Amino acid sequence: MKILVVDDERKLGILFSRALKNAGYDAKYVETAESALENLSEGFDMVISDIRMPGMNGIELLKKIKSEYPEIVVIMMTAHGTVESAVEAMKAGAYDYLLKPFSTDELILLVKRVSEDLHLRREVEYHRKIERKRFGEIVGESEPMQNIFELIEKVAVSDATVLILGETGTGKELVARGIHNRSPRAKKPFVAINCAAITETLLESELFGYEKGAFTGADKRKPGMFELAEGGTLFLDEIAEMPAPLQAKLLRVLQEKKVYHLGGTTPIPVDVRIIAATNKNLREYVNEQKFREDLYFRLAVFPIELPPLRKRPQDIPILVENFLRKRGFKVNISSEAMEILREYTYPGNVRELENILERAVILSGGKDIFPEHLPDFELDQMEVLSMEPGETTLEELEKKMLISALEKAGGNKSKAARLLGITRRMIYTKLKKYELD
Ligand SMILES: Nc1ncnc2c1ncn2[C@@H]1O[C@H](COP(=O)(O)OP(=O)(O)OP(=O)(O)O)[C@@H](O)[C@H]1O
Ligand SMILES: [Mg+2]
Repeated sequence: MKILVVDDERKLGILFSRALKNAGYDAKYVETAESALENLSEGFDMVISDIRMPGMNGIELLKKIKSEYPEIVVIMMTAHGTVESAVEAMKAGAYDYLLKPFSTDELILLVKRVSEDLHLRREVEYHRKIERKRFGEIVGESEPMQNIFELIEKVAVSDATVLILGETGTGKELVARGIHNRSPRAKKPFVAINCAAITETLLESELFGYEKGAFTGADKRKPGMFELAEGGTLFLDEIAEMPAPLQAKLLRVLQEKKVYHLGGTTPIPVDVRIIAATNKNLREYVNEQKFREDLYFRLAVFPIELPPLRKRPQDIPILVENFLRKRGFKVNISSEAMEILREYTYPGNVRELENILERAVILSGGKDIFPEHLPDFELDQMEVLSMEPGETTLEELEKKMLISALEKAGGNKSKAARLLGITRRMIYTKLKKYELD
């Protein structure tokens, strides 16, 4: 606790600062408000100042402190009979005041109370900050992730259909679960189905259920995912991959809030909240007529777009820490290794980061992680740059980088563009320029 005492009465000032020092505080005394201001950058927690002083008075000093160092606690000292100025001081943001004359014991008592208060306040602030770094299982301190937390909070309480967009490994499923867990449906089931992982017929019977004898092998009646999710949330993962006939059927269920089993004619009412996700550009799928526009609009009532990891490198340290704790790994990351992790571009986003760490823990034998335990992505990306000066032109370099990115992306141009941090349109232009298309 660093305290600055300001009083034009030298004797008093020295007396107070000495008493504070004896009580274990780091105290300094100055004679004028002007010199107090000059000293503030030293990092004081508290200023105890007289009000009536020649030159700048205590109230002016208080106002200056509050505008420049609002976190500093200011206590005013004032003589009997000038209570009005004490009131004025409180209005201007003073924490408390002492009426002169007071004993050094009274002074110490007040300072002790304030410092306890301050300690508590800082603790609360600290926990609020920690809280802001995570949202259930989802961590992130970057601004884009803070915005995502806010969106989740808002949408969770409603029943709106949510469409979660974002590259692979950005946490779409995590966010879907996060929304469910914060919604009034939290105690009811969260049912997830991957529309890309199974065949069209299987997907259909899984989603909508079937009657006995609806098809060969349907030896008993089976409820679908919609019924299993009753009262809860149905998560339709990789929605872009849903076959067209099922898109039509899904749309009807969303409109009517009823499902029909395969081979059944009785409508079954369902109360289910839908969350869909895709790493594809669904809008583009609509344009290319691979996805129904009417279904798109039904699903995209509340879109949430998860930012790729390379756009929020601030989150990397906390993601690393979160992963290691989640997996119970007690290892430290050297600062050089963290530096490398922070600079990589993660085409596979958080999932890729987790895989890299998993591998690093194994390679390090569960001990501290150093650069040699990380993949050679530095090398990969820098290979083309490590040529002798004069050996190449910038254009040749660009061409080499294009080729290397294309190879890494298995010929996929969108992916290559992402690796290079340029747009799809840009990569097409460049491919043409170097006659690589
Ligand atoms: N913000 C985050 N905080 C903590 N863990 C995260 C975060 N984002 C992603 N993860 C972790 O990364 C991994 C991938 O996340 P998830 O499966 O949700 O990605 P996805 O977007 O659904 O990917 P895909 O499109 O490939 O299905 C999971 O282990 C998840 O726990
Ligand atoms: Mg997923």
